[in-house]
Amino acid sequence: MAEPRKIIIDTDPGQDDAVAILTALASPELDVLGIVAVAANVPLKLTEKNARKLCELAGKPETKVFAGAIRPMVRKLVTAEEVHGKTGLDGPDLPEPTMKLQDQHGVDFIVETLMAEPKGTVTLCTLGSLTDVALAMVREPRIVPRIHEIVMMGGAYFECGNVTPSAEFNIYVDPHAADIVFRSGVPIVMMPLDVTHKALTTARRIKAFRDLGNRSGVATAEMLEFFERFDEYKYGTDGGPLHDPCVIAYLLKPELFTGREVNVSIEITSELTMGATVVDWWGITKRPKNAVVMGGIDADGFFALLTERIGRLP
Ligand code: BDR
Ligand code: CA
Repeated sequence: MAEPRKIIIDTDPGQDDAVAILTALASPELDVLGIVAVAANVPLKLTEKNARKLCELAGKPETKVFAGAIRPMVRKLVTAEEVHGKTGLDGPDLPEPTMKLQDQHGVDFIVETLMAEPKGTVTLCTLGSLTDVALAMVREPRIVPRIHEIVMMGGAYFECGNVTPSAEFNIYVDPHAADIVFRSGVPIVMMPLDVTHKALTTARRIKAFRDLGNRSGVATAEMLEFFERFDEYKYGTDGGPLHDPCVIAYLLKPELFTGREVNVSIEITSELTMGATVVDWWGITKRPKNAVVMGGIDADGFFALLTERIGRLP
């Protein structure tokens, strides 16, 4: 097998973040150098604790977990307890973690790792707001050309928005950070709502996780049952969109996704459309192509991959 791909996961767990983290920790193709928690779905104290709970659930307490930014760069923190519950990880009854949070700040960890590892070998996987990545770029601009690529869940185009009529949550939480990242020149792969709204947690797919019979499979089913109720009601669909695992699935099986290389610009001035990802899908402007924006997914293949990987865990 080829050398595992080195990744840093920046995340705000979050049940869908949780499934992404479990899948990454179960996959030998990936070397998770560290997990950085950011404030978004719920405040930082909870997201960093949830990240540690998930590493222990996966039987990987040696994973390094860091606390990143406590709030967005400019705007006030917006959270999403109505989707994820009070803890951010409502559903299963996971034990309090015993593994320690790393002392180093998550942004310093990102900077130090990118400066220490060979150029172009580390991929950043972002499952929450882009605050930590943008702060790292501002703090040490020399990291920018050293990043292999950023694979992110964030944004929307044809699906418009989920937290406002025109913005997706991860970008809306810190649009200024997103603006820095999309202007950085780092290759970006973006998993917008256009993809994730096609990856629905139907009853049959959740049952497949539960039927694995291992504790990670049962916890996944319990998390997804809690998580989907909000979006099922909102969208009137069978199951809710499983957003963040698209990032990890892309690293493992990029052929599950189809997309287009285009320009993406972030709205940071209008309060009405704040955080909108303006995707030049039809190549109308001369703005430089800065991201591969995905639009299609083989949803059955995606869920089969996640189920098989989570089945490898305790
Ligand atoms: C994104 O928002 C969060 O609530 C989810 O974890 C996901 O990262 C979807 O808009
Ligand atoms: Ca998330």
